[in-house]
Amino acid sequence: MTQFAADRLLLFGATGDLSRRKLLPSLCALDADGLLPEGLNIIGTARSDLDDAGFRDMAREALEAHLEPDRRGGMAGFLNRLSYQRLDASTVEGFDDLATKVGDYSSKGLAIFLSTAPSLFGPTIAGLRHAGLTGEKVRMCLEKPLGTDLDTSAVINDAVADAFPEERIFRIDHYLGKETVQNLLALRFANILFEPIWNSNYIEHVQITVAETVGLEGRVSFYDDAGALRDMVQNHMLQLLSLVAMEPPTSFDATAVRDEKVKVLRAMRPVLANETVTGQYRAGAINGQAVPGYDDELGKPSNTETFTAIKAHVDNWRWKGVPFYLRTGKRLPERVTEILVQFRCVPHSIFGGTSGAGLQPNSLLIGIQPEENITLSLMAKVPGLEATGNALREVPLEITMPDAFVGQYRRIAYERLLLDLIKGDQTLFVRRDEVEAQWEWVDAIREVWEEEGMTPKTYTAGSWGPSAAIALAERDGVSWHE
Ligand code: BG6
Repeated sequence: MTQFAADRLLLFGATGDLSRRKLLPSLCALDADGLLPEGLNIIGTARSDLDDAGFRDMAREALEAHLEPDRRGGMAGFLNRLSYQRLDASTVEGFDDLATKVGDYSSKGLAIFLSTAPSLFGPTIAGLRHAGLTGEKVRMCLEKPLGTDLDTSAVINDAVADAFPEERIFRIDHYLGKETVQNLLALRFANILFEPIWNSNYIEHVQITVAETVGLEGRVSFYDDAGALRDMVQNHMLQLLSLVAMEPPTSFDATAVRDEKVKVLRAMRPVLANETVTGQYRAGAINGQAVPGYDDELGKPSNTETFTAIKAHVDNWRWKGVPFYLRTGKRLPERVTEILVQFRCVPHSIFGGTSGAGLQPNSLLIGIQPEENITLSLMAKVPGLEATGNALREVPLEITMPDAFVGQYRRIAYERLLLDLIKGDQTLFVRRDEVEAQWEWVDAIREVWEEEGMTPKTYTAGSWGPSAAIALAERDGVSWHE
């Protein structure tokens, strides 16, 4: 951890969507809980022609729209922390004025959050360097998309590395800021129960689903260049997978945790053509509401996948032969992110004959969102006096996290990440070697798609993707959890 708590936070892209919907609400919520360092100044910058008062007005509106009323306590005090400097980041000229606005940060430190178009990363770094805003007391936080493949991400990473060492670079994957994702680590490493059976001897397969009901949401041009594989699998899903599959780190420390995650990412086996399915939604209905198809929203035909399912493998001792089925898509029937760990059958059933017919292998379902439930399915005897012996049935052992922690807020993922950025804790940020291992694996999948001339199969909005995705799992005798 770099040992300083910044007393200035500089937000690039401060008038943008992410800032309005997540960053400003998260910062206000942290302030209301007394978690921001005293005297922290937040300087917003963007192209819009605003002054301090105008920025505060914009922020107030954003908070009223995107922060729960009961978390807005102390909003006036929070708005007072804000100031604004207009900047055209594509040229170095305005950066001196920006540095003047930031002021002397040498006693505490400066954290910079870059949420701008990737094309501005290079010029922004040049401008910051020109204005003396890249010194030892400065941290740089980067928001996706960081490139579209390994090569383009390396260009961005190189540009940033020119001005900042890795210990001061904070790459966001907002899934790591989710409490339920961090709880995966607690579940695995704060309980003795799971670790001994967390391997190929006892686990038959793992499923990771990240399903969304939304469509393009006005992000047409970005999404059509990205697609589900780059938008969701390359980052969020591979991070989830690495947390499920990694070896126990020696401590909850940035180096220890990230060392273990990167080993998993590097052990991922290249995927074959028949281990992936891609899809693109057509008009359908979500929750009874008619929604248009992807091509209608886009206004032209496209080969971009809005859905993908992948059978992945981690080639190491622990996971040899255990498939990880991943699937994600837009316009699916429900918004749900969950991980299913399917255990193997008991080696021998003592409940022979027909009475043992109910015997099923155990499974552990970890709900990430919107339901934060952990459900372990166990076999139990059905009460009764059947002549043939014991009838068995699966019963859930269920923990509903909100009930277990009544009175706790459901925090925005960015609250944790912004706080860690200000404090300088990189544990929940993605290291360059992880990003590169993720791209390497994903780029190879796209190459296979290209070589095979694969184009997305259509699926009706509101369904669980193309039928080929169901077949992908069913070929192995596996059903997706629904
Ligand atoms: C973003 C993707 O990274 O994650 C979006 O670009 C997606 O396409 C979003 O909708 C999902 O995040 P969450 O937190 O709503 O699951």
